[in-house]
Amino acid sequence: MPAPSPVVELRDVSKVYPPTVKGGAEVVAIDGVSLTVDAGDVYGIIGYSGAGKSTLVRLINALERSTSGEILVNGQDIARLPERDLRPVRLGIGMIFQQFNLLGSRTVAANVGYPLEVARQPKDTRRARVAEMLDFVGLSDKARAYPDQLSGGQKQRVGIARALATQPGILLADEATSALDPETTHEVLDLLGRVNKEFGVTIVVITHEMDVIQTLATKVAVMDQGRVIEHGDVFDVFSNPQQPASARFVSTVVKGLPSAGELAVLRQRHPGRIVTLAFRDSSVDQARVFGEFAAAGVTFEVVYGGINEIQGRSFGHLTLALTSAGGDSTIDAVLDRVRTLTTVTEVR
Ligand SMILES: Nc1ncnc2c1ncn2[C@@H]1O[C@H](COP(=O)(O)OP(=O)(O)OP(=O)(O)O)[C@@H](O)[C@H]1O
Ligand SMILES: [Mg+2]
Repeated sequence: MPAPSPVVELRDVSKVYPPTVKGGAEVVAIDGVSLTVDAGDVYGIIGYSGAGKSTLVRLINALERSTSGEILVNGQDIARLPERDLRPVRLGIGMIFQQFNLLGSRTVAANVGYPLEVARQPKDTRRARVAEMLDFVGLSDKARAYPDQLSGGQKQRVGIARALATQPGILLADEATSALDPETTHEVLDLLGRVNKEFGVTIVVITHEMDVIQTLATKVAVMDQGRVIEHGDVFDVFSNPQQPASARFVSTVVKGLPSAGELAVLRQRHPGRIVTLAFRDSSVDQARVFGEFAAAGVTFEVVYGGINEIQGRSFGHLTLALTSAGGDSTIDAVLDRVRTLTTVTEVR
């Protein structure tokens, strides 16, 4: 495999806004963020409202200037570039938005062709490119329609066609599916997946929905209060989140982890000790885990569980109620051995 080549690299980037009211405090929207997006990545950025996600994408396409740090786009530090040199940088970066931002007075075809007009492409080139893009997003029959004659999903597909008209190598998507219903969301995510695979476009997708990350992204960064608190392969972060905020996001989509309420019910219903075991890929030998319980004479009942599939790999959790004639000390001893095989969480 070729070495990954960074397309976007943030080094200790901060963005501080001046006080919005007189005498108020400065707002540290981005606080010392370092992040590397490699060619071909679909990089998800997730975080609660106000975490700094939109500010981060606006820094990447230089709609906003950073306060400090380096922002390398294709190796060039754009943070210090003068405004007049930013035009070619921005041409290499497409963007789609939650509210689509289409021009209502222009037809679908004219919306898609708009960036090509700005780039002063000849008419024939524009026409061919618009036809090609509308075909790609499956909207050739809507070329002469106006945006308000389209559904939300169709509008976003026009947004994608427009963003890709100038053949950018990078696509930034800020909450691009947040205004869409779940089914339409998945159609748009499928399309973005094709943009990545068929055109090799590197995608940065900003969302507060873990579902979007799970479906589309290969890597994820979790933002909280202007900082990246955790980042890595989607599978790793989903199967083994290191930070409480990441764990909260993950728990919204991961199957098999009982909620606090469900655990309380399990507690009531089962007399034994309640433990949750994590299983990742085939790295955990399930036969050995259950063999330990059997060998120690500890009876187990599976009371909750589920398996998740992410990027062709699986992980899951099983919650067991344990009882033993040997009492707590027998169970403690077997749990110590099981802990050497997998992660064990006990609910007391
Ligand atoms: N132009 C601005 N002037 C002052 N403060 C700003 C400005 N833009 C953003 N902020 C502040 O910066 C912080 C990060 O905002 P940002 O829009 O990046 O968050 P976000 O993660 O995109 O949130 P959401 O999920 O709600 O879109 C917030 O505290 C916000 O109030
Ligand atoms: Mg935002």
